[in-house]
Amino acid sequence: MAAGVSRSRWGRGPVTTAAAWPLLLEHHAAIGGRTIRGLFAAEPGRATRLSLEAASVHADLSKHRVTEETMRLLVRLAEERGLAERIDAMYSGNRINTTENRSALHVALRMPRGGSLVVDGVAVVSEVHEVLDRMAAFCHRVRADDWTGSTGKPIRAVVNIGIGGSDLGPVMAYRALRHLSRREITFRFVSNVDGTDIVEATLDLDPAETMFIVSSKTFTTQETMTNAQTARSWLVSGLGAGVDISKHFVAVSTNGVAVEEFGIAAEATFGFWEWVGGRYSMDSAIGLSLMLAIGPEAFRDMLSGFHEMDEHLRRTDLDRNLPVLMGLLGVWYRDFFGASSHVVLPYEQYLERFPAYLQQLTMESNGKSVTLDGEPVAVDTGAIWWGEPGTNGQHSFYQLLHQGTSLVPADFIVFANPVHDVGDHHDKLVANVLAQAHVLGFGRTADEVRADGASEDLVAHKVMPGNRPSTTLMLERLTPAALGTLVALYEHVVFTQGVVWGVDSFDQWGVELGKAMAGQVLPALIADDVPDLTHVDPSTAALALRYRSLRGR
Ligand code: F6P
Repeated sequence: MAAGVSRSRWGRGPVTTAAAWPLLLEHHAAIGGRTIRGLFAAEPGRATRLSLEAASVHADLSKHRVTEETMRLLVRLAEERGLAERIDAMYSGNRINTTENRSALHVALRMPRGGSLVVDGVAVVSEVHEVLDRMAAFCHRVRADDWTGSTGKPIRAVVNIGIGGSDLGPVMAYRALRHLSRREITFRFVSNVDGTDIVEATLDLDPAETMFIVSSKTFTTQETMTNAQTARSWLVSGLGAGVDISKHFVAVSTNGVAVEEFGIAAEATFGFWEWVGGRYSMDSAIGLSLMLAIGPEAFRDMLSGFHEMDEHLRRTDLDRNLPVLMGLLGVWYRDFFGASSHVVLPYEQYLERFPAYLQQLTMESNGKSVTLDGEPVAVDTGAIWWGEPGTNGQHSFYQLLHQGTSLVPADFIVFANPVHDVGDHHDKLVANVLAQAHVLGFGRTADEVRADGASEDLVAHKVMPGNRPSTTLMLERLTPAALGTLVALYEHVVFTQGVVWGVDSFDQWGVELGKAMAGQVLPALIADDVPDLTHVDPSTAALALRYRSLRGR
């Protein structure tokens, strides 16, 4: 162990010290070259054996480059890394976010009313439901035009101001469930400190009918506070200096003092807890804009979907546990095949922001290179996550997925029933997703290409290598509960991988320095006098001076 490093309660050293690791290396050497075609040919019941049901998700894991032995060894690795114990620790409110000395208790946000979980003497579940009840009462008032703006007009536009976890979850879920949303109210989401974001979001809105929800766990984030101040000025310039802003501003935060200082009334403030990480918060009060859009009942349905997957994680043996198996497959490709990215392909237009949401969830959680013990990791950790809804991606980046030189494991997500049953659109959509997963896995050999009549000079170009692994998740319909189930699934995939790699999936120290540095650079950009730029490198100093000169400063 390096000097100054203290072993964490949950630390188990580098993953390579697990007995299963060298066995997996050996196993990979033996079967890594086998093809998905070959694996199916050798095992007639494979599609059934490697499919499972979890909550309302049907998952087909058969198109992976694994054998029964692979899965057995991966599960053994999870056991040796203490996954079961860590799941228990998470559910008991233990401070598993060790570097911040906090619990990671997002599972408590969706425990049913009456559930019991006492952490540090606090009955967490009843506190959660108290806030949910207040949110519901507030949403009922706004949706019933009983909460009006300062001039008495009903609220017709809700603008959520937040960034990171205080934006990506709400906007993703709002877009996903827009078909259930209250259409008389316009919903907008502002996150970027680039002024264009708030200007465009408010351009056609009537201040008298607009409500801003300032969502920020800390209530100190530069982007959010800047946008909130601009929103206030926009409101004052539209409605006059005497406007009662308390009718137009709502806060969601853990920082009650800062909210009060901003001037937001206690009745319009919704709290949550330090044990809710930003990227794990869309099902807390951070989801207020979503609740306003879809209503409290649908929001609670979403929570029940989350809870169903939580129960699956908690109560299912590791070898039939979907988030665990998906997490382990991610480790298999990342560390044994060198796959540096993972693509998520929802065949559902309403999930257009799901990949962006997953980027924060996965990469802010597991983009780490130090273990819980403070030592360098011994293997690659979090992959780069990305994606786009199908079928659009098929006409852009799928070429690389099919014939490129990188291995990119894929998750396909599809719903059996469309939200909008228009002509034969949905059957065509589903035909596409099944076709893509098939072609990625099974490819097309040179002989098959020739048999299709290709001229000899094009055979090499038309060969589809195949052997590209994918998971297909099939759900019945995109409901609030289904969305909750999917989000919880990926939260637990991330958790599984973090436990295996031995990193803290709940901190994000890597984003702090950039924030602090921006705070130091800003005065140099706006100062009246020649700025002091000695604290930044010469390249940055030159760019700052160029900027000042272009701005006439
Ligand atoms: O970008 C870092 C981060 O701290 C995220 O983890 C978080 O979701 C986001 O900033 C917003 O933080 P806050 O909700 O405190 O404004």
